[in-house]
Amino acid sequence: MAELIVALDFSDPRDLLACARSLSGTLGWCKIGLEAFVKNGPGLVNELDAMGLSVFLDLKFYDIPNTVAAAVRSACKTRARLLTVHTQGGEAMCRAAKAAAEEAGEERPLIFGVTVLTSFAPGTMPGITKDPQDFAMELAGLADTWGLDGVVCSGHEAAGIKKASSLKVLCPGIRPAGSAANDQARVMTPAMAVANGADYLVVGRPITRAADPAAAARAILDEIRA
Ligand code: C5P
Repeated sequence: MAELIVALDFSDPRDLLACARSLSGTLGWCKIGLEAFVKNGPGLVNELDAMGLSVFLDLKFYDIPNTVAAAVRSACKTRARLLTVHTQGGEAMCRAAKAAAEEAGEERPLIFGVTVLTSFAPGTMPGITKDPQDFAMELAGLADTWGLDGVVCSGHEAAGIKKASSLKVLCPGIRPAGSAANDQARVMTPAMAVANGADYLVVGRPITRAADPAAAARAILDEIRA
């Protein structure tokens, strides 16, 4: 069954940990992104892990291969279970990231490649005239060849990627029917994303900004299970 990952996009660690605590009995995964990590550092990852949550550390590395490999090695010193790099960083960078993670042995975090951010609507990616969906599919094919464990893409690409590869697929831009899209452009409901084969669904604001985050998470889990 697909895993639900809550995106804990808070800068204040008290708000973040309070939200994580309220959700830790309901779901198994959370995501720490740039906002929380830049403010709070690796200790936060381990604190969430100790709470029983598997942590997806979403820092979307994009740099020269040596720098990304070193950053992955540093991330492997935390209890993070899943890390991201930008597929557009290219073959040498992606392969270096995977090799650095493998140095950590069997307990290593998975390395997923971000294809096209779900906030990009057609025609808004600098220098890219391709349709975001076609471009995401192309990047996923490369990520597969380069040996990444999975990719990050919108729910719209999930079915095609699952059909064409053995990659794990993680989809942000998930919005329960009737909820606000916020800054996301290529959104999909949890049920549709699961029907398309997504292995992990990332949901932030529809849970974290709900009056009752645990109830919002339970409703999404019910939709996933149905
Ligand atoms: O609040 P919302 O559900 O839009 O949060 C989505 C989360 O997923 C954010 O933390 C964002 O950084 C992340 N993300 C994304 N699109 C990607 C990769 C990650 O929205 N392609």
